[in-house]
Amino acid sequence: RVGGPIVTDLLQCRKPEGPDFPEDLQCCPPMPTSEPIDFTLPDPSEPLRTRRPAHVAGAEYMAKYKRAIALMKALPRSDPRSFYQQANIHCAYCTGASCHPELAVQVHFSWLFFPFHRAYIYFFERIAGKLLGDPGFAVPFWSWDVPEGMRMPLQFANASSPLYEPMRNPWHAPPKLVDLDYTMDVVENNYTDDEQIKHNLWIMYKQMIRSAPLASLFHGQPFRAGETDKPGAGTVKLQPHNLMHAWVGDLLSYPNAEDMGAYYAAGRDPIFYTHHANIDRLWDAKTLRTLIGSTPHAFLFYDEEARLVRITARDVLDMDKLRYTYHGVGLPWLDARP
Ligand code: C2O
Repeated sequence: RVGGPIVTDLLQCRKPEGPDFPEDLQCCPPMPTSEPIDFTLPDPSEPLRTRRPAHVAGAEYMAKYKRAIALMKALPRSDPRSFYQQANIHCAYCTGASCHPELAVQVHFSWLFFPFHRAYIYFFERIAGKLLGDPGFAVPFWSWDVPEGMRMPLQFANASSPLYEPMRNPWHAPPKLVDLDYTMDVVENNYTDDEQIKHNLWIMYKQMIRSAPLASLFHGQPFRAGETDKPGAGTVKLQPHNLMHAWVGDLLSYPNAEDMGAYYAAGRDPIFYTHHANIDRLWDAKTLRTLIGSTPHAFLFYDEEARLVRITARDVLDMDKLRYTYHGVGLPWLDARP
């Protein structure tokens, strides 16, 4: 059975090696005990999961996310639904600086970027819902593109919370405003809050609208079998996506800005999933998805029943069919010309 030109083979997964990696780094997912099953859409009668922005979600909703992470962290490492294994998915599929692609699928430098991460968050969310016994559970998103969301949500900054991760830049703890134009050289700009907000909105406008008049510029270039595996990333992937990873990670203490700034380690920070839910929301906001509809690339994920599932980019194009939606913020950068 083929999933298209790219068939992920878990049995080929190997330990990453190189000067950028910790000695004991191991990212391979649990080896399959049977053939993967093909993805099927959830039942249309399932409750629609409504993902809400962390800054307005409310204490109860955020407490649920916290509980879900705690439950995942409590599972044995051998369980594909454990936080350890969920974090490792990113290491196994990643590529580029400080990451060796364990599964020989480069997901960050082509149009595979959006569908891969959508599928990743989809399964992560369903696993969380299953552990919570809440089939309507939806991950919160970190809407760093709207002024009220431009600070790290407080829940992530509480050092005694399962949502906390020590390998973050201490200068960027709340109430520091995010810098969507972060230069990754440890230097902080000296904008006032108003200037920073305005600048962030302009960056959003530039990356979402001005620099991406064509769908391919937004999504990234087509990934074709037999050609380069890094044909080119899309505008939003480069900025603010990458810069937000670097902004959260600890560039002061680690050259690769672990955790969030390094591909192999990013999934270890519980904020990763809220960051990527926002990226996913921006993909939807752009709604230029037709091109990707024809890509047959398949990825493998373990689902909430710990079954290995083969899912393709085409499978994830319709959020409604996946039974989730985004709610609670607008797109204030739509006409934020300077
Ligand atoms: Cu797979 Cu935010 O990167």
